[in-house]
Amino acid sequence: MSNDNTIDYGPLEELIGVWKGDKGMDVAPEPDGAEENPYFETITFSAIGDVSNAESQLLTALHYRQIVQRQSTGEIFHDETGYWMWDAKAGVIMHSLNIPRAVSVLAGGEHSGEKEKDGGTLLSVSASLDSPDWQIIQSPFMRDNARTVEFRHQIRVGDGKLSYSETTMLDIYGKRFEHTDQNELVRQ
Ligand code: HEM
Repeated sequence: MSNDNTIDYGPLEELIGVWKGDKGMDVAPEPDGAEENPYFETITFSAIGDVSNAESQLLTALHYRQIVQRQSTGEIFHDETGYWMWDAKAGVIMHSLNIPRAVSVLAGGEHSGEKEKDGGTLLSVSASLDSPDWQIIQSPFMRDNARTVEFRHQIRVGDGKLSYSETTMLDIYGKRFEHTDQNELVRQ
């Protein structure tokens, strides 16, 4: 692993920094339906360098920490961490995430490294229990009672602004639930 300042983070470069946003909206499952939770948050992406695997794959990586607080009370109700990684040669981006419900995801997607027409960057990754490549790991309790079956995440970043939209499909309370989160953030 190395972390000198010549490293090319490609499509992840624009994420580096501290971001804050207060327009978040979470739609979460409840036994009798859905609950909407407006939120504000801070996401910190740190450049951590590059990593080589099996002497043939080279990844550049960012670590991130996401702290999400309820608009109504300020309570932290979602705490997430993980890495974003870019494999320039394969044209693949990867997003690993961990949440303290004992659920972990390794989502992936293609990325050529090219910018969008408007000069911004679009990052799109997904994982699913049916995927041969990008998977979800969860505790036996969550598998049996609140199973994450699919995860999709899209980030648009450019010009000091970041917006994302995230969908987590859950099997909970005897039905399939679309748990969604979205927000717009500004670089600090
Ligand atoms: C900004 C991001 C997120 C926020 C604010 C958020 C918030 C919430 C809230 C409020 C609940 C309901 C909790 C309860 O009623 O006790 C919930 C449930 C859940 N979330 Fe999230 N979530 C986020 C992202 C995620 C992600 C990325 C995953 C997994 C990939 C995830 C997995 C789950 C699971 C499995 C449950 C069901 C547990 C339960 O309702 O008791 N969430 N989330």
